[in-house]
Amino acid sequence: MPDYSRKQGNPQSMFSGRGEKSDTRTLPMMPIRDVVIFPYMMTPFVVGRESSIRALEDALAGDRKIFLATQHDAAVDEPKVNEIYQVGTIANIVQSLKLPDGNIKVLVEGGERGKILKVATEEGYFRVSVKTMAFRPVSTPSLDQLVQKVTALFEQYVKLSQSLNYETMIAAIKVDEVGKFTDTVAANLNVSIEEKQELLEIFDPVDRLARLADILDLEIEKLNVDRTIQGRVKRQMERAQREYYLNEKIKAIQKELGRNEKSEIDELKKKIEAAGMTKDARDKAEQELKRLEMMPPMSAESTVSRNYLDWLLAVPWKKKSKEIREIERAEKILNEDHYGLEKIKERILEFLAVRQLVKTPKGSILCFVGPPGVGKTSLGRSIARATGRKFVRLSLGGVRDEAEIRGHRRTYIGALPGQIIQMMKKAGTTNPVFLLDEVDKMSMDFRGDPSAALLEVLDPEQNYMFADHYLDVEYDLSKVFFITTANVIHTIPQPLQDRMEILRLSGYTEPEKMEIAKRFLVRKQRQQNGLKESNLTLTDEALTSVIRHYTREAGVRNLEREIANICRKIARKVTQEDKNIQVTVQPEDVKDYLGVLKFRDTKLEEKNEVGFATGMAWTEVGGQILNIEASIMPGKGKLTLTGKLGDVMQESGQAALSYVRSRASKLGLPADFYRHVDIHIHVPEGAIPKDGPSAGITLATAVVSALTKIPVRREIAMTGEITLRGRVLPIGGLKEKLLAAHRAGNQTVIIPRDNEKDLADVPANVQQQLNICFVDMMDEVLDLALERKLETEVKLETQPETPPALEHEASRDTLTN
Ligand SMILES: Nc1ncnc2c1ncn2[C@@H]1O[C@H](COP(=O)(O)OP(=O)(O)OP(=O)(O)O)[C@@H](O)[C@H]1O
Ligand SMILES: [Mg+2]
Repeated sequence: MPDYSRKQGNPQSMFSGRGEKSDTRTLPMMPIRDVVIFPYMMTPFVVGRESSIRALEDALAGDRKIFLATQHDAAVDEPKVNEIYQVGTIANIVQSLKLPDGNIKVLVEGGERGKILKVATEEGYFRVSVKTMAFRPVSTPSLDQLVQKVTALFEQYVKLSQSLNYETMIAAIKVDEVGKFTDTVAANLNVSIEEKQELLEIFDPVDRLARLADILDLEIEKLNVDRTIQGRVKRQMERAQREYYLNEKIKAIQKELGRNEKSEIDELKKKIEAAGMTKDARDKAEQELKRLEMMPPMSAESTVSRNYLDWLLAVPWKKKSKEIREIERAEKILNEDHYGLEKIKERILEFLAVRQLVKTPKGSILCFVGPPGVGKTSLGRSIARATGRKFVRLSLGGVRDEAEIRGHRRTYIGALPGQIIQMMKKAGTTNPVFLLDEVDKMSMDFRGDPSAALLEVLDPEQNYMFADHYLDVEYDLSKVFFITTANVIHTIPQPLQDRMEILRLSGYTEPEKMEIAKRFLVRKQRQQNGLKESNLTLTDEALTSVIRHYTREAGVRNLEREIANICRKIARKVTQEDKNIQVTVQPEDVKDYLGVLKFRDTKLEEKNEVGFATGMAWTEVGGQILNIEASIMPGKGKLTLTGKLGDVMQESGQAALSYVRSRASKLGLPADFYRHVDIHIHVPEGAIPKDGPSAGITLATAVVSALTKIPVRREIAMTGEITLRGRVLPIGGLKEKLLAAHRAGNQTVIIPRDNEKDLADVPANVQQQLNICFVDMMDEVLDLALERKLETEVKLETQPETPPALEHEASRDTLTN
C-alpha cells in the first residue's frame, strides 16, 4: 500500500488545494486512433500520416515531446480539430525508427495530461497550446481506504479477465502516488475508448480514483455475468455436442448394420394400430413403444422391450377362422378320417349343432380318454378340419411347472409367455381347436401346480380373461375349442375332471382293427412310402395275421407301424426291381416281411387244471387275460402273493382267503385247514406290475380249486371284486375285458350282475360269441367255474391231530378228504 502520508505536507488541504499549479505549453500535436495514452504508459505505434510524420519530426528536432490526442472516429484519415478530443497527453518519444516504407515506428511514454487551448495548422500539421495541471499529493484515511478498495477491485478484475497477466499487473500498480496509481490502473482497463477518454479527462486524481472504483465495480459485475453465462453456455454446448456426436455415431452404426431406427418405430406403431388389440393391451403396447423410443437402441433393455412388443403383436387379437357349422359336412369329414367311434362322433356333431343355434355358447370342454393309439389325437385334428378351424396341439406330458402354462414375469431374464400363449401365436387365430394332449401325464412339484393354471384355461367362466405372466394383459381364450386327451382318468386332478366332459374311447375289436387297417392305415402307409395302389395288396387273412401275431394292443398304432414296415420292404423292391411290381401279401408271406411271430395265438390250456383260474384285467393298453395260479404246501397258514402285485391286489388276495376260510365248512374244508398249510398265489407274467380289486373272484376261485383239488374249467374267464361275505361287486373297463377274453378264445365269461348295464358298449358280435354269466355271489362263481360240485360233507374225524411233515401230495390228500 503506498504510503502517502510521508510525502504530503498538509493533510488538511486535501480537497482545497487541488489543481494548484497550472502551466501552458506549445507543442506539435498528433491525432491518434483507437488508443488513449495515459501518463506513465509506454506505448509503441507506427506513424504513417504525412501530417503526423511532420509533427513527429518537429518534436524529434526539439525536446522530443509531442502532444497525443485521440480522434473521435478512428476511421477518419485527416481529422479536423473538432474531430479530436480536447484532452490528451504530452508524451516523450523514447525511440523512433524509420521503416523502409517511409513510416516511422515510435515508442512513447505518457507524461502529463493537457487540455488544448489553441490550435495552429499553418505548417501542415497541428501545433497546439495545451494547459497542464499539477496536483499536490494528498493522503487521508478515507483516501487510503479508497485506494485499498480500488486495489482490491483491480486485483479481482485482473483475476476475472483472462487477457491480463496477474503478476505483472499487480506489480505495475504498486506505486505510492495516487495519480500514477489511478493512471496505471486506467491504462490497463479493458474498457471502451470513450470510457478511457473520460478517465483521462479527469485531472484530479481523487476524482479519478472514485470514478475508477465505479468502473471497476461495473466491469467486475460484467465479467462475473459473462463467466457464468459462458460457463453455462459452454456446458450446454458440451452436452449438446456430446449427444449429437453419440447420436451421429449410433446412426452410422445402424446404417452400417442396415437398420433404420425411426422406420422401425413407425412400423411398430402401424402394427399396433392394425392388430385390433383390446383396449388394455393397446394402451400397454403404446406405453411400451414410448419407452422403447426413449431407450438407446442397442441396449439390453430395449431388446427386452422390443421382444415384449413383438409378442403382443404376434398373438392373434381379432383374426379368426371362418367357422364351418354345416353338420352334414362335418359328419362327412369325421367319417372320412375315422372308422367307428360312433358315440364320439355323435357327441361332436351335437356340439356343433349347439354352436349353430347359440352365437357364443359357453361350450363344455371335451376330454377323450382311452388307451394309446385309439385315435384321440387324430380325432382332435379331424374336428379342426370339420369345423374349418386351425389346429394346435400342446403336449402336457411332463409339464410340472405352472410357469410353463402361464409364462414368466417379464422381469426374468429370457422370460417368455407360457405355452398357451405361444400356441395361440402359432395358431394365429382366436378360435382354433386347441388340443391339450395327455393331461393325465402332467405332474406337480415344488415349482407349482400346472393343473391350477389349466383350471383357469379350461373354465369358460374365467378364460375370457386369461392372465399370462409375461403378456401381463388379459387374453380372451373363450373362443378357443379346447379338447383334452388322457390315457387314464384317475391321475387327472378332480377339479380339472369336473370341467370336462369325459368321452371314453375303448380299444378296438379285431374286426374293427381290420376295418381301420383296410380303410385307412394301408392306404395311408402306401402313400407315405410312395407306393402306387397296384404295388401292394394285403389280403384280409394277411392283415388278420399281422393283427394277431405282431401286435397286442387296444389301439392301432403298432398295427400301423407293422403295415409301414411291410410298405418299406415293398418300396425297396419297387426301386430295385421293377417300378410296376405287383405284390400280394398272403398270410404265409407275412413272416418274410415282419420276421418271427411276436405273439402266439393265446391258446386255452390243454385241460382243466387245479388251482389255475383265468381272470380278465384292464390296463392302460387295453384289456388282458390274467392267469392266476394257487398252490398249497404244508405249513403254518402263511399266504404268499407274488407277481408284482400292487397293494390293492394283495389286499384283495387276503380278502379272498378270508372268504374261503369263513366258508370252509360249506366248501368241504376243515375249519382250521389253514393252520396246516401255506398258500402261494402267483400271477404271471411276474415282471409286469398288476393292481386293482377286480381279480378278487379269480383269486378266490384259484384258492378254492387248490384247496379242494377240483379243477377249474379252462374256457371260463372271470372278473369281479369280492367281499368277505362273498358278494361280487362291479368292476370297470368291462368292454376291454370282454374284448380281451374274446381275443383269447374264452367262451364263457363270468361278470358281476351290476355290470350288466355296461354291456351296451360291447360290440354285438362279441356279445353273441360269448356266453356271458352274471353273478351276485361267489358261490355262483364256484358253481360255474369248478369242474364239479363242492362236497359239503365234512369228515372232521379224518383230520389228523398233528399234521405230519408231509409231502405236497400227501398234504393235499389230507385237505381234500
Ligand atoms: N378309428 C380310427 N380310424 C382311423 N384311423 C385311426 C382310428 N383310430 C386310430 N387311428 C389312427 O391311429 C393312429 C394313432 O392315433 P392317435 O395318435 O390319435 O392315438 P392317441 O389315441 O392319441 O394315442 P396316445 O394316447 O398314445 O396319444 C393315427 O394314425 C390314427 O389316424
Ligand atoms: Mg395322442
